[in-house]
Parts: sequence; C-alpha cells; structure tokens
Amino acid sequence: MASTEEQQEDDLQEIDPISTLLLPQDHDNALNMPVDGAANQQLHHHHHISSIDSTVLIRQLPSQGLSFQLWPAATTLLTLLDHHSSHSATSQLSPILAALSSNTRPLNVLELGSGTGLAGIAAAITLGANVTVTDLPNVIPNLQFNVDANANTVALHGGSVKVAPLRWGEDGDGDVEIIGKDFDLILASDVVYHDHLFEPLLYTLRVLMGLGEEEEKKKVFVMGHLRRWKKDSVFFRRARKWFDVEAIHKDSPCDGSRIGVAVYSFVRKGQKL
Ligand SMILES: C[S@@+](CC[C@H](N)C(=O)[O-])C[C@H]1O[C@@H](n2cnc3c(N)ncnc32)[C@H](O)[C@@H]1O
Repeated sequence: MASTEEQQEDDLQEIDPISTLLLPQDHDNALNMPVDGAANQQLHHHHHISSIDSTVLIRQLPSQGLSFQLWPAATTLLTLLDHHSSHSATSQLSPILAALSSNTRPLNVLELGSGTGLAGIAAAITLGANVTVTDLPNVIPNLQFNVDANANTVALHGGSVKVAPLRWGEDGDGDVEIIGKDFDLILASDVVYHDHLFEPLLYTLRVLMGLGEEEEKKKVFVMGHLRRWKKDSVFFRRARKWFDVEAIHKDSPCDGSRIGVAVYSFVRKGQKL
C-alpha cells in the first residue's frame, strides 16, 4: 500500500513536467566551463567532497541527450555519501552500510543508468568500494572518460571503478551474465522518468537483487529520485510487490519547485537488514 507521504504526493496536482524534466542550472557545487562550440558543448564540473577534501570531475555533453547530463538526484547521492563519510554513525546511509559491510573485503557496488557516473564514482571514493558503473552502450564512452578522469582520486581512497554496458530488461540478461550479480549495494539516480522503462528496470532489479532465487546475501538498492510526474507512483506501487521500500532522505525543494529529491532504500520483501 502507498505510504501517506506518497499518497500526499499523488494528491499534488501541480507537478510541472516541462520545467522539472529540464535540468536545473544551479550547480552551486560546480565550476561550469564550456570548452567547445554550443553544438558540441562540453561542460566540465568539479564536485567537491568536503569530508575528504577531494573533487570529482564530471564531463557533460548536453547536446548528446539526457544520458550525458547530470541529473539532480546524482548530486543528492553524492551529498549523502559525503555526509556519511564524515558522520558515519548518524548518517541516513549508516544502517544500510553497516548491515552490508564486511571486515574482510570492500563493498561491491553496482550503479544502474549511471549517465555521467557521478554517484558511482563518489561511492568508490567515499566508501573505498569496488564499483561498476553501467548504462546503455552508446553512453559508455563518456562514462569511461569520467571514470578515467577520476582514476587517481578513486585509487587514492582505496576504491575502484569499472565501466560496463547494462541494458535494463530481458535484453540485458547477457550483460548481467558478464557483469555478474555479486553486489552488496545497487545505486541509481533519476532512473524513474519514462513509464515504458518501469518494467525493464524492475525486471533488472529483481534479477540483481536475487528475487526468485535462494538468495541469502543481503542486498540493498538505494535510489535517488526527483518526482516529476504523477505516474511515477506506478513504479513505486509495482516495486512494492517485491521490495520493502523506505524513504531514507528528502531534500528541501529547490527554488520554484514543490518537490525535492528523495532517496529510497529497497530490500527484498521480508528481508531484515
Ligand atoms: C535521467 S538519466 C540519469 C543519469 C544519471 N543517473 C544522473 O542522475 O545524472 C537516466 C539514465 O538511465 C539510462 N537508461 C535509460 N534507459 C535505459 C535502459 N533501458 N537500460 C539501461 N540504462 C538506461 C539513460 O541512458 C540515462 O543515463
């Protein structure tokens, strides 16, 4: 059943899909540096991780489409990871990460629909995790560029980042075979936006989270999401058939908007962290 919070969101009549689907240009935490003509504009942003006084460099290629731009929920995930890194006992991520952590090996993390890769790269740096960032095949070269640009920082903090294609849905079964399923934490930001992608994304999540298998391993999916459409609640309703979903964080709305980015945790139904 939908939570009261979600029900209230359902009651909102004024989600403006046009203004909220476009990306805000309020990169307070970033340096915008156009380095090319408008058609092939490249934006290089430096995102500061204050807990370890490091930066992540991200290249966006806005003219190439939405997969090449940074979406708001990725920045929220970076902020949560940064906060966790300096306040590990009290952060919103601490119950999840404490349950998943092992003393004998680094955390294995998979990011779905990584786009520019900010969240996955930030996870490798702040958690010293082994991260695999993934997206559609045509997105991989820019993702690899961003991973290479941050390789030294990632290594300095004991992490690693691999890049791999992973298509959601049954089309991606072969991709999952190559990548494997040995992940503790699955991350994603702003991946719920087109309703035709709800089922493929849920399919891939079920596969990766070990549903329908005798899976003993604890796994958590953490998803940052800025709600733009009333129909986004369909994704959550369907997800709740298989997963216990909990809101673990909410940003305040940005100027002129009524909704801020929310972060949710998903665990297999009935599984205790
Ligand atoms: C709105 S963007 C978000 C990108 C990034 N996570 C961020 O927050 O900046 C959605 C991402 O999902 C990816 N995506 C869309 N459909 C997909 C599919 N069928 N399989 C895998 N990735 C997909 C897109 O290529 C894009 O990078």
